Amino acid sequence: MADKQVTLTIEGQEPIELPIMKGTDGPDVIDVRTLGSQGYFTFDPGFLATASCESQITYIDGDAGILLHRGYPIDELANNADYLEVCYILLYGEAPTRQEYDQFKQIVTRHTMVHEQIASFFHGFRRDAHPMAVMCGVVGALAAFYHDSLDINNDKHREIAAFRLLSKMPTLAAMCYKYTIGQPFIYPRNDLTYAENFLHMMFANPCEEYEVNPVVARAMDKIFTLHADHEQNASTSTVRLSGSSGANPFACIAAGIASLWGPAHGGANEACLHMLEEIGSVDNIEEYVARAKDKDDPFRLMGFGHRVYKNYDPRATVMREACHDVLDELNINDPLLDVAMELERIALSDEYFVEKKLYPNVDFYSGIILKAIGIPVSMFTVIFAISRTVGWIAHWSEMHNDPHNRIGRPRQLYTGETKREFKPLHERE
Ligand code: SDX
Repeated sequence: MADKQVTLTIEGQEPIELPIMKGTDGPDVIDVRTLGSQGYFTFDPGFLATASCESQITYIDGDAGILLHRGYPIDELANNADYLEVCYILLYGEAPTRQEYDQFKQIVTRHTMVHEQIASFFHGFRRDAHPMAVMCGVVGALAAFYHDSLDINNDKHREIAAFRLLSKMPTLAAMCYKYTIGQPFIYPRNDLTYAENFLHMMFANPCEEYEVNPVVARAMDKIFTLHADHEQNASTSTVRLSGSSGANPFACIAAGIASLWGPAHGGANEACLHMLEEIGSVDNIEEYVARAKDKDDPFRLMGFGHRVYKNYDPRATVMREACHDVLDELNINDPLLDVAMELERIALSDEYFVEKKLYPNVDFYSGIILKAIGIPVSMFTVIFAISRTVGWIAHWSEMHNDPHNRIGRPRQLYTGETKREFKPLHERE
């Protein structure tokens, strides 16, 4: 994949030839792997221009606002497939036949229950604990239950761990919610779809029948699809780096959950809804837009901007359409949607946002739908974690299937003290 090269000319040194590698799409990369042996490191905090790996799962063109999963555009998947079909595509690389899909769905469905003793884990947390804190703990603890699928060099172990994580995340997430409101945990049901099952475990109770609204279930499924994977984002890179040391899949996914929790990443959906509530009315938008532009004010428009997208996040487009569908179907007139729409209109016509190419991202509208469905704000990022688990697993598996896989160990630009003699305490007084 390298038919061109770049020459580094450093004064007083032999020129350094570096191959240029070409992918099937997106920028070519300069292969700098030999630089270390020639006395140089590259310097790229935040990885603005660093390809950390080779991958075939997801492609993003940030300038064009394109997102493809195994080549399929996200809007076509969101509007024509269900989340489990997208999971199959992300994990296996091709769209499943009807038989493959039914078999995959059957395996996922029959792994949705969790070990009965896991329920006792929850009772160690305060009822008002943030659900993401609980998820970090409980998902990591799955390694304490599934000793039979911890050998990361065994592809059968990797596959059963993947199914267990994909299947059990909604169950654990719903248990987080039920625990905070003091209601009994609801068991999964094998006659429901993935999204219906999650909603049923969230909102059913033992005292009466609970019917899942099909429009809400479809919106939930679409939200799962829109958050499923996104190339080498912070949490996926965390999972890959954790996995590169040979850590077990449950520990790696727990690390991904921890990284996703940050408000600059998956935590932005919760932060965005709080921001819209704080703005409160379209009359206050100008003030908040001015604050977002003020370098001396730490306030940022949550749900706006993206490291890669310098155009409209294609997921936000689908999410905004789903927003209108759900609110119309549920006959909800949420003033926050008016605030969000007006905020988007004002920001997209403001020179600051235009010049910095700041557009709504996936987190801008998702909170309004989740609130309409009845999901509490503290559960928003947990929903993101449920959905992204398949992306994390797909990348973790791809890394382990790569024969060149090795532990990730970045270096640094050291600017600390040079070597100096240490004087014991009695000599320093
Ligand atoms: C997700 O990576 C992924 O793919 C993530 C994700 C996924 O699916 O995995 O897409 C999910 O995390 C979406 C992003 C959710 N986060 C937010 O909505 C939080 C608000 N956005 C920002 O914090 C920010 O835009 C980031 C974190 C998303 C991107 O940060 P970058 O790429 O490091 O960009 P930056 O912070 O350097 O900003 C560039 C400029 C700065 O101004 P200057 O210093 O150049 O003058 O734009 C400004 C920033 O001040 N800016 C904003 C802004 N975002 C960037 N100003 C106001 N409001 C904002 N939201």
